[in-house]
Amino acid sequence: MNLKGWCRVKEGENHTVKLTGENIGGYKVEEKRWQGATSTVWRCSCQDGRGRWGQTIAVKVLNPYRDNPLQINQFIKEAKIQGKIFHENVVRVYGIVRKENLLGMLMEYVYGDNLKIVSQTTEIKTDWLIRFFSRLASAIGYLHSRGIVHNDIKPENIIIRKVDRDFKLTDFGFAESLRWWSKKATIQEEPRGIWLLREARV
Ligand SMILES: Nc1ncnc2c1ncn2[C@@H]1O[C@H](COP(=O)(O)OP(=O)(O)OP(=O)(O)O)[C@@H](O)[C@H]1O
Ligand SMILES: [Mg+2]
Repeated sequence: MNLKGWCRVKEGENHTVKLTGENIGGYKVEEKRWQGATSTVWRCSCQDGRGRWGQTIAVKVLNPYRDNPLQINQFIKEAKIQGKIFHENVVRVYGIVRKENLLGMLMEYVYGDNLKIVSQTTEIKTDWLIRFFSRLASAIGYLHSRGIVHNDIKPENIIIRKVDRDFKLTDFGFAESLRWWSKKATIQEEPRGIWLLREARV
């Protein structure tokens, strides 16, 4: 994949973008969910009929950055590692999408807030904590059994589902794959500009 010219902004330009109402890979951007230093997370819904019509997904867009190929490669690595994980407590990553000079990661959308926000706004009961840590340890154990070290487990990277207060771990930006970080796992371009993670289901 040729990364030349991606995610660059001119001197003085803002590092964030307004994407509400835009179409990204067949998904209409509806609402900003998170504005971070390096990325922005949006809620989107499928509009082109090739996915499930109306299906809600999340897209994490790398903030436009001055000429930083390292950051772009890091973002692709994050998508590749997370895209290989199929676990009920890990956010599913579907692929990478490019729109003009922006790069986005398509993901399962989780209805809820991260654990930092939840812990500041609601009372957390001991029973819930015991079950949470037990399930978190199990999810981390699963990752380790597949040779993956997350390296950034913290409340902001754990999303609590509103519906059942179970959680989804995300943000594999610092993750390493020790055993099967596969050179075979490539990203291939699809007709509508989405790069799907091939060989993701190993
Ligand atoms: N799939 C998702 N569904 C719903 N909300 C999400 C999803 N992914 C991320 N978020 C929200 O966005 C926040 C930031 O996501 P993430 O941790 O992946 O970004 P980040 O790499 O830490 O960004 P930055 O470094 O720019 O702060 C999460 O804490 C959560 O509130
Ligand atoms: Mg994070």
